[in-house]
Amino acid sequence: MIEAVDRNSNQADLNAIREAVLGWHAHSGRNLPWRDDRHDPYRVLVSEMMLVQTTVSAVIPYYHKFLARFPTVESLAGAPEPDVLKHWEGLGYYRRARQLHQMAREVTDRFGGTIPADEADLLSLPGVGRYIAGAVRSFAFDQPAPILEANTIRLLARLTGTKEEVTSGSAQKRLWATAESLVSPDDPGTFNQALMDLGAEVCTPRNPDCSHCPIADFCVANREGLTESIPVRLARKPPTPGEEAAVVLTRASDRSILLLERPETGLWSSFWELPTFWISGADPARRASLGASIATPEKIPQAVGHLFGLDSVDVEPAPRVTVNYVVTRYKMFLQVMFGSVRETGRRHDTPNCPDGWKSARFVSHDDMKKLTMPSAHRKVLRKVDF
Ligand code: ADE
Repeated sequence: MIEAVDRNSNQADLNAIREAVLGWHAHSGRNLPWRDDRHDPYRVLVSEMMLVQTTVSAVIPYYHKFLARFPTVESLAGAPEPDVLKHWEGLGYYRRARQLHQMAREVTDRFGGTIPADEADLLSLPGVGRYIAGAVRSFAFDQPAPILEANTIRLLARLTGTKEEVTSGSAQKRLWATAESLVSPDDPGTFNQALMDLGAEVCTPRNPDCSHCPIADFCVANREGLTESIPVRLARKPPTPGEEAAVVLTRASDRSILLLERPETGLWSSFWELPTFWISGADPARRASLGASIATPEKIPQAVGHLFGLDSVDVEPAPRVTVNYVVTRYKMFLQVMFGSVRETGRRHDTPNCPDGWKSARFVSHDDMKKLTMPSAHRKVLRKVDF
């Protein structure tokens, strides 16, 4: 029995753990699509970038669609950014999509289109940290590189009885060292995946199934009855609430809808969205800069015509749809109002573009499908009867 798995653990214990983990994985490992593709470093990068902060079940359909459209590094490097974002729409954390795209371009420019196997080269690519570098090295190139992500942090913290807060610098240092000493030199890729699976399936956040755990005998938390209190994590701050109001403004003549193209920087940069006004609380999408004088939904109908230079605008006074959504650390309440604009002699093809936004235009139902939009707005528009 060992006290903790670290550099001082004896080889016999390390080997016994490796064997037990690999033996368990051979019959109980998960069957995930990127596992079949694991020797293709491009596919490892795509799957791992998608899996950051996102569940396996949410990622699977995106993984298939993304690779059908961008099957190689070259195809991704050569694609326009809106096309890449469109294939990420709904997955969230869009910075990862932009980083993956940039990564493909750098691999093409700096490494002749070949994803490097060297740790320092991998770490020099946008969006690649120690975890993703370890995943590429171990999965694709069979190098004995450690990995540490949510599942393995939990598992290794319990195995070693880590009572420190797991995101602290010293706990991270020790957990990485544990992962490094534990990774199997013979089959590092399979071993790292097995460790992740064991974390996801057996060493679960709540009620871990220790009676079916192949390494329970080595686990300090199991022995000391600490599985519920490890991993220690800082209490999460509750999300900050915010309130906003969007307007679905339909042009009566052709049923097209007014959309704005967001600024080039910040959240959802260059995405298309419904005109949306800040009402109260958090404002992560900087909506206050769109008609800053608006503070209540009642003022929106008259402000819309003024802001976009449209006459004959008619907006219903009460919202018809409400949506709750979460973005980063904000919990937003979105009210959606409906209105129409009639033509009065001149066509309203070119509504005024508000300061700071990239463009404003009436978009047909078909064209709307091709644009990338924040999920909450896409959801609202799916409900609209055109
Ligand atoms: N989470 C992060 N990377 C993963 C992977 N390759 N398989 C399953 N879950 C993961």
